[in-house]
Amino acid sequence: MTSLLIRNAAELVTVAGPDAPRAGAEQGKLEIIKDGAVYCEGERIVAVGPTNQLLRKYPKAKKAKRTIDAAGHAVIPGLVDCHAHPVFAGDRCDEYAMRLAGKSYREILAAGGGILKSVEHTRAATHAELLAGLRARLDAALALGTTTLEAKTGYGLDERTERKMLEVIASARGRSNPPLKKGRQGGEKKGHPIDLVPTLLFAHAVPQGWTADDLADLAVDATPRLAPLAEFVDVFCEKGIFDVEQSRRVLQAGKDAGLQVKVHADEMCLLGGAKLAASLKAVSADHLLYADDESIVALRDAGTIAVFLPGTPFVLRVAYAEARRWIAGNVPVAVGSDLNPNCYCESLPFAFALSVYEMKLTPAEALVAVTINAAAAIRREKEIGSLAPGKLADIAILHGPSYLHLGYHIGGNPVQAVVKRGKVVVE
Ligand code: NIG
Ligand code: FE
Repeated sequence: MTSLLIRNAAELVTVAGPDAPRAGAEQGKLEIIKDGAVYCEGERIVAVGPTNQLLRKYPKAKKAKRTIDAAGHAVIPGLVDCHAHPVFAGDRCDEYAMRLAGKSYREILAAGGGILKSVEHTRAATHAELLAGLRARLDAALALGTTTLEAKTGYGLDERTERKMLEVIASARGRSNPPLKKGRQGGEKKGHPIDLVPTLLFAHAVPQGWTADDLADLAVDATPRLAPLAEFVDVFCEKGIFDVEQSRRVLQAGKDAGLQVKVHADEMCLLGGAKLAASLKAVSADHLLYADDESIVALRDAGTIAVFLPGTPFVLRVAYAEARRWIAGNVPVAVGSDLNPNCYCESLPFAFALSVYEMKLTPAEALVAVTINAAAAIRREKEIGSLAPGKLADIAILHGPSYLHLGYHIGGNPVQAVVKRGKVVVE
């Protein structure tokens, strides 16, 4: 069995605590061990603690197959990206220029651009082309500290392409991932080191010449056939895209097929997406830029996690989520990248910086948002999101001596090395 000792970390931030989402004041509490060590065997963490104490208790750690001296560096849990659209072909850099010239996201979409442009490219791309694009983005994310990533479909809007996207995700996830339904694991022998969590987002936009009802019907019909390749169902619940009732139908079809629920909710106006998420006991409601105080209470009561994606208001140049209201309302807050052809960003450290500077999370709250709370937003909180005995050895080592470097050292890469399932995958 492989074994790994990381020792003498300037600070070891364990994010220890219950394997559950943290809300309110709990979200701001971090265990920080000075001169810390982590000892791993195989894929899992065996022990965590001050270096001297750990070595006394586990003398065999001194003989680990690999030892990393982390003096001068902070060691944190591998980052978890709980909201991404990483499978797509082509790019939309021309639209970025159009937006800078004053066109809105919705105007571009209504004219057949936006998501519909990416659909055109993605329908035309082969499995191999999509896989190559996905793997390149995963490589970038991994180097930036992401060790698990949720991957949505949504650039198909037809069954054939949605299936192709799910199969591309299955190819990239490899055999080390927890199997999906029997016989459907897919996966190359050597998958990408990042663990992927597939989400079916069939109802992502309405093709020109279609009604939203027609597309929702198509999604509902295809869901039982596609569900074995996914873990979550999601929908773009938004004015002019899918209304609350259409969204409910699509999500219910996913639930009936055994999927867990996520919702793109109240991103561009207050439509009731967050309340819909609460009524379906969704695992997460995402974006939420316009969600009101009633939505906050509804999500808290439902145990739904609020996922914020500050990269998107950054590129759309609109107001950020007011995270303090959500922390005060005792809703667990997670942060994701929203990596997609509109917000083309693999970087959770960048999302972390925006969360702190623009959404007003404290750095401690932001770290919880991209680790244990993000893990809970994809139902992996028992496996990842903190450094504790028994959990997967998913670890990031920063260049700097403090986790604060995540939001402080901006524009570059604050991550020096990454361990995934006990193996050093970036150094
Ligand atoms: O989360 N809001 C809907 N979906 C994506 C954008 C996808 C796209 O523009 O391609 C989002 O922001
Ligand atoms: Fe999104």
